[in-house]
Amino acid sequence: MEYLEIEGQKDLRGVVEISGAKNAALPCMAATILSDEPVILENVPDLLDISTMKELLEYIGIQVEEIQPHRFIFSHGKMPSFEAPYELVSKMRASILVLGAMLARYKAAKVALPGGCSIGTRPVDLHLKALEKMGAKIKVEHGYIYAEAPYGLKGAEINFEKITVTGTENILMAAALAEGETIIKNAAKEPEVVDLAVMLKKMGARIEGEGTDTIYVKGVKKLSGTTHSIIPDRIEAGTFAVLSALFDGQIIIDKYPEEYLKFVHQILKQIGITPVKIGEAQFIFKPENSLRPVNIETKEYPYFPTDLQAQFMTLLSVVKGTSTVTENIFENRFMHVPELKRLGADIEIKEKTAIINGVEKLSGAEVKATDLRASAAMVIAGLIAEGTTRIYDIYHLDRGYENIDYKLSKLGARVSRGIQEL
Ligand code: UD1
Repeated sequence: MEYLEIEGQKDLRGVVEISGAKNAALPCMAATILSDEPVILENVPDLLDISTMKELLEYIGIQVEEIQPHRFIFSHGKMPSFEAPYELVSKMRASILVLGAMLARYKAAKVALPGGCSIGTRPVDLHLKALEKMGAKIKVEHGYIYAEAPYGLKGAEINFEKITVTGTENILMAAALAEGETIIKNAAKEPEVVDLAVMLKKMGARIEGEGTDTIYVKGVKKLSGTTHSIIPDRIEAGTFAVLSALFDGQIIIDKYPEEYLKFVHQILKQIGITPVKIGEAQFIFKPENSLRPVNIETKEYPYFPTDLQAQFMTLLSVVKGTSTVTENIFENRFMHVPELKRLGADIEIKEKTAIINGVEKLSGAEVKATDLRASAAMVIAGLIAEGTTRIYDIYHLDRGYENIDYKLSKLGARVSRGIQEL
């Protein structure tokens, strides 16, 4: 079992560059299914989840070539396969993103049902209901979603009963090639959804209203190729903002997507941390001498992202006073709490709220990375803790943080990997 070992309390300083957004790159990669012509994607982060999506697209029949670091060309090769197999879907839930595009382009798709995951059951019922409303015939059998639309998808009014990011993205892709107009109500407004819409529009899709509650899509017959550069990762940026503050503003964050983190900045300011712009897209985070506790609630964009909840909880665990973090998006996203407690944090969970009583310091221990963002929380904790922290199940981190060991080492951290024999 691979682990990451961190010697805590080293002085971190220097410049770190934010990579392309995983959650924008994944739907944009899926969208390459929609065109016959080659598509070039730039600023694609080098991550495990991106490799999984690449494998999935290759399985489906798309040729994927990395022409330069972070720059990929996608072109249609052999006859397409209509199947997204379980081995790949089970590695990454976001594989469901190929469903809408495959159905629109090939009129048929067989996609393994993503199972539960550590942060909750995470069903895909809303994706399926919406596609059915667009005329798809869908059955779920033997762990697979079988979907077909032999005469093509038809535009429809989709009213999502709950805001869903990948659900909105799936329908955007399906609607781009459907016949007639699709109206997506209660759509997700996340910057990654907007990035996908921007790419689809460059390919010739007719989309309006992305970034608002209601998106209008007028289907076209064909989409063309394009070149598109993926937006920076706001979650990685927010993670380094926390680190910058914990190391007295000595970490400079480059390519920082300020516009996507406005609400997060409000919370940081409440805690006593000031975002300071020091150059073109460069930020540091200056803490006041004594920080203040805060109450955070996760909510869909533009509010506080669930994907930054665990990292902020680590920060709050060393802020004097009582803070709370309420998780409203996923039902089981406090798996990092017992791990933080192993490092000395004082946290109690009451239903969907974690009550955090700030302690003086954390102390190194052996912990587990329970999911992607929890693993980032453990890394932050290890960097500020006294002594050595060993984080097991570190593959979660590699799913979503590019070159994290390198980025941290460059800042002066002592991090190393090892294998624990079972
Ligand atoms: C995306 C992000 C993930 C982020 C999450 C919430 C990607 C690849 N992943 O995940 O990093 O944490 O948004 O911001 O972009 N739901 C249903 N039925 C459905 C779909 C969703 O009940 O068919 C529920 C989910 O269980 C959850 C809520 O809706 O409680 C929001 O989930 P959703 O926005 O769909 O998350 P993902 O798109 O999977």
